[in-house]
Amino acid sequence: MENFRLDPWGHIYIEEYEKLFKYFGLSPTKDLLKRIESIGGKSRLYSRGIVFAHRDLDKFLDVIERGGKAALVTGFMPSGPFHFGHKMVADQIIYFQKMGARAFIAMADAEAYAVRRIPRKKILENAKIYVANLIALGVRPERATFYMQTNYEPAYYRLMQMASSKVTISELKAIYGDVEPGKIIAVFTQVADILHPMLDEFGRYEAVVVPVGPDQDPHIRLTRDIAERLRSDVPGLSKPASTYHKLMRGLDGGEKMSSSRPESYISLNEPIETAISKLMNAYTGGRATAEEQRRLGGIPEKCMVYELYLYHLADDDMLREIYEKCKGGKILCGEDKKIAAKLLREFLEEHQRKFNEIYKVVEDYISLPRY
Ligand code: TRP
Repeated sequence: MENFRLDPWGHIYIEEYEKLFKYFGLSPTKDLLKRIESIGGKSRLYSRGIVFAHRDLDKFLDVIERGGKAALVTGFMPSGPFHFGHKMVADQIIYFQKMGARAFIAMADAEAYAVRRIPRKKILENAKIYVANLIALGVRPERATFYMQTNYEPAYYRLMQMASSKVTISELKAIYGDVEPGKIIAVFTQVADILHPMLDEFGRYEAVVVPVGPDQDPHIRLTRDIAERLRSDVPGLSKPASTYHKLMRGLDGGEKMSSSRPESYISLNEPIETAISKLMNAYTGGRATAEEQRRLGGIPEKCMVYELYLYHLADDDMLREIYEKCKGGKILCGEDKKIAAKLLREFLEEHQRKFNEIYKVVEDYISLPRY
């Protein structure tokens, strides 16, 4: 398969989403669109192809439809600011909760410490910020379990240890390349994140779905294999389903939003004026001169402002209108950015107000370790 390998800790940009279907056996979500929307209602996540692929989502939906216990699992590395890339996952949590699933949301502090080398104090601070952002965005805490990977229940750690006995070092090398102990422990921690809702101790959920970016697929494939191998020892385990969303590019035109480049992302917690100035400087699909733009039209497919509309800020009517105006050369980037800035300002004002309220009581929702 040429040189196509997914690296969960790398910074590759998956340009050729099609390859994922071909090489890794993912299925397109568009074939399930009607069924998804008949259960969960209309959502831009699916109608706009933001969540573009899945494994076994149809089986997960079977369980939802017959009223079985269904759970969603996801995790966040609390290693930097909470930005619009993270909001995309929040939107998916909210959508699956609406379908009736319970959410298990890991703060991947073990991983942030091992892989990103973030100081513990910073990780704990960030974890509170992440949880408060998720709730402020609409994740329903009464239908969610938020937990720190290093501060959870014994059965979760038992599962992690049992999982580690079902894998060989050469398998790990084949999947991850290097096998540093910290990383490998983070891998098994994530396996336990994904499978633990199926244990009796956590409610014996029949089906689990994991919404991730395609870079996380190596973890998913390994977890699915481990679920099979553990089945005789751990009753109730089955292969988790997964969904894959497109990764947002950097506002600066970089391949991926990254916390290491502040111009590449807008944090949901940064001062609104800073956020707006990042937007005003964002990379667009504009032409070299206004005259050219009027004559040839802009290229929304390349434009980060358009990507913000598409993933977050615009409803369907507005999206269509902007797209057509841009393509037709009827609107220039400066003018368009002002429209986006207004939407961004409204969104952030409302969000930050909610966030501040929730942050005051966030420790009611997550139990932090002492260090
Ligand atoms: N590894 C994920 C990341 O890099 C975070 C994560 C931890 C996760 N546990 C998970 C994702 C369980 C999905 C499911 O961001």
